[in-house]
Amino acid sequence: MKFFIDTADVDAIRELHDLGMVDGVTTNPSLILKSGRNILEVTKEICSFVSGPVSAEVVALKAEDMIAEGRKLAEIAPNIAVKVPLTWDGLKTCKVLSGEGFMVNVTLCFSANQALIAAKAGATFISPFIGRLDDINLEGLDLIGDIRTIYDNYDFETQILAASIRTANHVKDCALIGADVITAPPAVIKALASHVLTDKGLDQFTADWAKTGQKII
Ligand code: G3P
Repeated sequence: MKFFIDTADVDAIRELHDLGMVDGVTTNPSLILKSGRNILEVTKEICSFVSGPVSAEVVALKAEDMIAEGRKLAEIAPNIAVKVPLTWDGLKTCKVLSGEGFMVNVTLCFSANQALIAAKAGATFISPFIGRLDDINLEGLDLIGDIRTIYDNYDFETQILAASIRTANHVKDCALIGADVITAPPAVIKALASHVLTDKGLDQFTADWAKTGQKII
């Protein structure tokens, strides 16, 4: 399973990149706002050291304008995945841009049928939002499972990019279901390394080591 980092915070991406944890990056207008940076500049900086897909999202609502924005974003670097919303205009944009050879990430997916139609439109990635479904008391992970089954039934090549991941358990469950990619904030990626028994065990070892009076170096 590939790890994409869901942020436009360059320092946070760099830290994880140095550990080999970054297979790609996803951004969206809210994350660009949070970064306080210009979308073209910050995306270019991310692409200067991340070689995997870097999603940059269009903001227009009409297909013609989305296509123009997508082409402009794709000029930033060859590894840009143009992110479009799962609307009818977004699907038209997906069809055109994927036909031109660009990677397209279709986002804001909340149903299996939306994922099916995005695959038909040539999406490289489909981004189902787990956390936002959980927020309204639906089962976000069930959607990941349904899409996995549908894509496997028909050998669709569209990759399932599980998004809106809020917890380490979301990551584990996506791996068990067989999502191709998860995108998660840096804090969630770091949380994958944590376990209370690891901390407890280390405290015990440290205390016992001190009692030996020994040194390794
Ligand atoms: O990639 C989409 C993701 O950023 C949405 O996450 O937590 O805002 O629902 P969230």
